[in-house]
Amino acid sequence: MTQDLSALAASRDRKLASLLAVGPVVPVITLERVEDAAPLARALVAGGLRLLEITLRTPAAADAAAAIIREVPEAIVGIGTVLTPKDLERAQALGARYALSPGATPELLDAASRSEMPFIPGIATASELMAALARGFQTVKFFPAVAAGGIPALKALAGPFPQARFCPTGGIDEKNAKDWLALPNVVAVGGSWVCQTSDIRAQAWDEITAKAQKAVTSVTA
Ligand code: 3PG
Repeated sequence: MTQDLSALAASRDRKLASLLAVGPVVPVITLERVEDAAPLARALVAGGLRLLEITLRTPAAADAAAAIIREVPEAIVGIGTVLTPKDLERAQALGARYALSPGATPELLDAASRSEMPFIPGIATASELMAALARGFQTVKFFPAVAAGGIPALKALAGPFPQARFCPTGGIDEKNAKDWLALPNVVAVGGSWVCQTSDIRAQAWDEITAKAQKAVTSVTA
């Protein structure tokens, strides 16, 4: 890495560390309607979850993220399902505090390494982790966490890659979140279990607050 890119990486790492300190449970959110965005974010914040991942998986996603950023300042909005450099630009233009991807292409890693916005690239193998580390990304999303080997996989990766920090998602819920967080190389866990599409469609905000509270308790109790 050139000196400029190293300085950017260091600055992104500092920002990311302060964001992740707000975790450690990150709800992975898919919004179908913009009008659900702010009430959902308020419900999650009320339940103790401020660090959010809004996925770019629906036509409403970008406007929904913008609505949360505008109307719910307590929420810390990250944009997930970033697949291309263009998605990354979109996330930055929306005012997201960070971005995540389920996997990574060389183009996406290159674009993210030139950006000031913290970025958590997805990895599922040692080789993918090596590509992320080589570009200065030490904190990665381990996806799909359970299907890609679960806790034993992260324990195994700790050997050759002691510097890597992981945010596992995919198959995590309130029953296993605490076990993942007990690993020294896990800094946060993410998942959709707290705000399921059926609850969002039903605008069951109290139910979502209760699930958020339960998620917090499940990792702290
Ligand atoms: C993600 O993008 O991180 C996953 O879709 C979340 O996985 P889950 O639905 O199994 O929690």
